[in-house]
Amino acid sequence: MNDPLIRMSSIKKSYDGKKNILDGIDFSLGTGEIAVIYGESGCGKSTFLNVVGLLDSINEGSYFFDNNKISARRLNTYSTLRARDIGFVFQSYCLIEPLSVRDNILMPFVYNGKPLSKQVMSELNQISSELGIDSLLGKKAALLSGGEKQRVAIARAMIKHPKLIIADEPTGNLDEVNSNIVAAALSRAAENGAAVLIVTHDRQLNYNNAKVYLLNDGRLIQVEK
Ligand SMILES: Nc1ncnc2c1ncn2[C@@H]1O[C@H](COP(=O)(O)OP(=O)(O)OP(=O)(O)O)[C@@H](O)[C@H]1O
Ligand SMILES: [Mg+2]
Repeated sequence: MNDPLIRMSSIKKSYDGKKNILDGIDFSLGTGEIAVIYGESGCGKSTFLNVVGLLDSINEGSYFFDNNKISARRLNTYSTLRARDIGFVFQSYCLIEPLSVRDNILMPFVYNGKPLSKQVMSELNQISSELGIDSLLGKKAALLSGGEKQRVAIARAMIKHPKLIIADEPTGNLDEVNSNIVAAALSRAAENGAAVLIVTHDRQLNYNNAKVYLLNDGRLIQVEK
């Protein structure tokens, strides 16, 4: 059997050198798997996602991403890995406001330097119709509602078929109908082979076959839903 895409053991992370926000985390996630993480506001969920997504460093412990040993001191050398293999849906969306929805969703291809093939354009149409944003493709991102921005950010994370999709509160601004649409889209990404890591407050949402964790006191505990 292949090693899981993400393998972490005894991860510790502190911002101030005193309090460990992450205090001994063991976690693994394989391709095709979904992990959902709950936890109180301020407990370190976004911190954990930033560490997994190679955006922030750890103080202690070991982290292997796709069999690459991640060294805390060399985070800036992982930008290619990040751009190619990780799709990030940020809590604050991080869209480029003056650009159109279409250009925002296609942004990963600008970073990857890959040409926009016919296949990518048909993916664009398929993903945006799946997420109910196909009629918005020509609109400026700045003019969207919060829920629309959220779905655009999800389309941008999915379109390059990354090995890992990380989503921080992907349904935080959505009504029930659109939350279900997003959950179905992320579940489908996992069925197609992505590892999917989600932070959410929404305990009603159903992600197929998800492993569910609680982050508490810097530790991750696997729980039943
Ligand atoms: N860049 C930073 N520098 C210093 N402290 C930080 C930084 N980012 C987060 N923190 C602190 O770390 C703790 C965890 O923050 P984090 O954003 O990970 O929480 P969260 O679980 O995502 O919360 P929420 O549910 O409100 O989004 C908080 O006490 C926060 O103030
Ligand atoms: Mg957060």
